Amino acid sequence: MVAPYRKQNVTPRSDENIRESVEQLLGKMTLAEKIGQMSQCADSEFAFGGEIEADPTELLVREGRVGSILGAFNSRRTFDLQKLAVEQSRLRIPLMFNADVIHGYQTIFPIPLAWACSWDLEEIKRACMIAAKEATASGITYNHAPMVDISRDARWGRVMEGAGEDPYLGALIARAQVEGFQGDTLFSEETLIACLKHFIGYGASEAGRDYNTVDMSEWTLRNVYLPPFKAGLEAGSASVMNAFNFYNGIPVAGNKFILHDLLREELGFDGMLISDYGAVDEIYIHGAARDRKDAARQSLEATMDIEMVTQLYENYLPQLIEEGKVQEAQIDAAVRRILIYKYKIGIMDDPFRYIRPEKEEEYHFHADHLQASRELARKSIVLLKNENQTLPLQTEAVIAGTQKIAVIGPFADSKDMLGTWQFSRYKEETVTLLEGLTAKGIAEDQLLYAEGSGVNDPIEGGIEQAVRAAEAADIVLLALGEHSEMSGEAASRMDISIPAVQQQLAEAVIAVGKPVVLVLTNGRPLVLDWYEQNVDAIVETWFLGSQAGHAIADVLTGDYNPTGKLTMSFPKHLGQSPIYYNRFNTGRPLTAENQDEKYISKYLDGPNDPLYPFGYGLSYTEFSYSDLQLDRQQMKSGEQITVTVTVTNTGSMAGEEIAQLYIQDLYGTTVRPVKELKGYRKVQLAPQQSIQIEFVITEQDLEYCNARLEWTAEEGEFKVYVGTHSGNTLEQTFELLK
Ligand code: GLC
Repeated sequence: MVAPYRKQNVTPRSDENIRESVEQLLGKMTLAEKIGQMSQCADSEFAFGGEIEADPTELLVREGRVGSILGAFNSRRTFDLQKLAVEQSRLRIPLMFNADVIHGYQTIFPIPLAWACSWDLEEIKRACMIAAKEATASGITYNHAPMVDISRDARWGRVMEGAGEDPYLGALIARAQVEGFQGDTLFSEETLIACLKHFIGYGASEAGRDYNTVDMSEWTLRNVYLPPFKAGLEAGSASVMNAFNFYNGIPVAGNKFILHDLLREELGFDGMLISDYGAVDEIYIHGAARDRKDAARQSLEATMDIEMVTQLYENYLPQLIEEGKVQEAQIDAAVRRILIYKYKIGIMDDPFRYIRPEKEEEYHFHADHLQASRELARKSIVLLKNENQTLPLQTEAVIAGTQKIAVIGPFADSKDMLGTWQFSRYKEETVTLLEGLTAKGIAEDQLLYAEGSGVNDPIEGGIEQAVRAAEAADIVLLALGEHSEMSGEAASRMDISIPAVQQQLAEAVIAVGKPVVLVLTNGRPLVLDWYEQNVDAIVETWFLGSQAGHAIADVLTGDYNPTGKLTMSFPKHLGQSPIYYNRFNTGRPLTAENQDEKYISKYLDGPNDPLYPFGYGLSYTEFSYSDLQLDRQQMKSGEQITVTVTVTNTGSMAGEEIAQLYIQDLYGTTVRPVKELKGYRKVQLAPQQSIQIEFVITEQDLEYCNARLEWTAEEGEFKVYVGTHSGNTLEQTFELLK
């Protein structure tokens, strides 16, 4: 189908040649064709947002009224539309094909909040490379990922899409994803244009309600929300997408300070700025524009290059030019940025280079990709509780037939393990928990399955059946959680506990009195306080993707000793949200000594601390930390400090520990967080083995945005913390002299 259309011996053009070619083409374009390049329509069997009135895609393409298409998820469709563009539009400019390839294309990987818990940058990068390989085979060239929004409120459904609450780790993971998607060159037909989103502050939506008001200082924006974007830009991301919220009262889609002054001028971003779905139109709905024409003006002024799915640019830019309210030069600048990337990715010289049905056949859901997904999934699992060494399961006894396992709950044998933001054709091949356990050689009659309840609805007789299974078993796996559409976009929850029907199932099953392991499938931190008090073990498995059941079984049976560490705090009570480890001391901090005092920053009806803090995660073995040393107590500007600590595996099983290093700037021209992650080491240790690990602290690690909004390190005293999670560390102090 495609081969006759492929161009041979196409090589990358030099930047100079691209610039010249763009100028030549620009010179031939009518205003309508220029605006066409700045417009994107949706063409998908999937919904990405509300209904948008638009002409048929084929007409828009033929008339040169779109330059890119959102959501065409197969080579047949991308081929047909590309053929229309290059054969029937006047200037034959090829299309880019955009999609949200957030955590895999056909092979699905753990959701980003899960893979962040692996702290494994290479595995995350590999997942993104594989996703790019699979997606580009279908002709997709422009990804709407990575999402790099810092998030601190688990009521927000999109926490599943990001890396959690920490700017340092979020920045490392942003970089890994951009490198994974874009590879060494965008010219390769197996790499994707990355898009850092959502610039900026979306994760701070008030009360965790999606699309809600965000109100923050520039100081907070720069210290908390900006670092992952800066890292992604340094990694060369070709594109950025705006956030739906406003900043300082102006919707970001039309916010010249945010998009032009900060992103383009200060951060030097010269790539493509794409609006989020309908966000240009929403400038008007926010009430920050008298009419849609003014909304279009604001967005162009802010240097927004591509308008996603609405048509304000098409409808109003010509008038705005006539009225002298915008200049055609501003439109030319946007079209240049778009065309430069169409040349860079090679489609101007070989429009069908990415559309490869034969590669779809070869790459999609490939066994090697599934293995990579399983490996990352295992590393994404977080062991939250394991009393009386309930885990790992005594698989030998089970296989020998002397132990029976009850596998109970809506996620005991569910295919709904992929999470949201996935469009895979292979959903029905997702490995369930029961299938994963069976694959371990456990006979069917040793696994007593009972669904027990739905996710949100009871099952007639379900609890009774589950109780019978628990009574007949030696141990119970209680597989509970959220279905995949209870998190993600437009999926905020007021109550972030496990749904009531599942709670009733849990109470009945726990009352039987056998050891109970809670196995969680969910897209956000949940309130688990009751479970912490009532079950013997808790395994957080998130949404692990295509190989979920195998990865969970690997951990439950001890074939893989869990290593995951939380990248987002789990509140003990919803009322604590938003809650995060890198908080400020306040002027009246709660301490061990003043618990009974009144005028202290605390609650009358509960603790300040989360149930499980940032960086927390258990192993089947134990690790101890000792002998934290600094090679000096004072550091002059430009010098560095070497930190050493000894980590010992004090248990009886080999395991991997993620040792974390935090700092605390004891005072600054502004207040400073009580802890900030600045490094970590993943160490493999045999039973009883000790290892001395080393960190280096440089002055750059101590920098922050200060009271004068300067990014700098300030002299003074610092604390260094090293340990197994943000609430359990050894500490030392040093001084920075400047
Ligand atoms: C959605 C999301 C954005 C996504 C876009 C296209 O509304 O906010 O992250 O890339 O629309 O799917």
